[in-house]
Amino acid sequence: MERENKVSMAVIRRLPKYYRYLGELLDKDITRISSHELSNITGFTASQIRQDLNNFGGFGQQGYGYNVEELHKQLGKILGLEKIYKAVLVGAGNLGQAVANYKGFEDAGFKLLALFDKNPKLIGLKIRDIEILDVDNVEEFISKNEVEIGIITTPKEHAQSVADKFVKSNIKGIWNFAPTDLKVPEDIVVENVHLNESLFILSYMYKEKNEK
Ligand code: NAI
Repeated sequence: MERENKVSMAVIRRLPKYYRYLGELLDKDITRISSHELSNITGFTASQIRQDLNNFGGFGQQGYGYNVEELHKQLGKILGLEKIYKAVLVGAGNLGQAVANYKGFEDAGFKLLALFDKNPKLIGLKIRDIEILDVDNVEEFISKNEVEIGIITTPKEHAQSVADKFVKSNIKGIWNFAPTDLKVPEDIVVENVHLNESLFILSYMYKEKNEK
């Protein structure tokens, strides 16, 4: 969608939060909400929320606020959450198994078809019915099953070679947990996850509050 391409990543990065809160409102059968109320629960200012949502055509009505179901649906569409993504994960160690064990990703539409590792002791084990397979077979598996998303939870020294395998087998999106910057062709999207960064923000806030 062309219009979305022009929207800044700063705005895009706020959308999952709106989406999550709107989902919670829907669960509570709340049908409409003002930008002020949304501001109270998200922590963003009402004008920020209006500006953000105006990027996609508004969705709100003067004097009414937002229709929760409609806004949730539209944000889901914008975020590409209307389809089921097929995913595989490489590096079935501590973090890989924790990611695989969390069913919430699947509930959000990311279906983990298989885990891959190079450790023979892990190959053949299952995490929530998802089998750990030999990483030597990952490319064939991806092509055969038309997998779209690859998740990397190997040590950082191995992350690039895993990314190269993903690229060769035509994966389009990589969710990278290894603390390294991957080099991939331009048409492949990479989202890095660094829990450390979030932890450092916590430590900053802690310091600010407690070292006066
Ligand atoms: P781990 O050692 O428990 O697991 C790594 C797994 O990768 C092992 O099972 C190993 O056999 C496998 N592996 C190594 N090379 C491979 C290859 N070429 N192909 C297939 N499998 C391979 O390590 P842990 O604690 O699970 O950490 C994994 C990665 O996640 C590390 O890079 C770590 O720095 C990162 N990490 C990132 C976090 C984040 O917030 N992004 C948080 C915690 C860890």
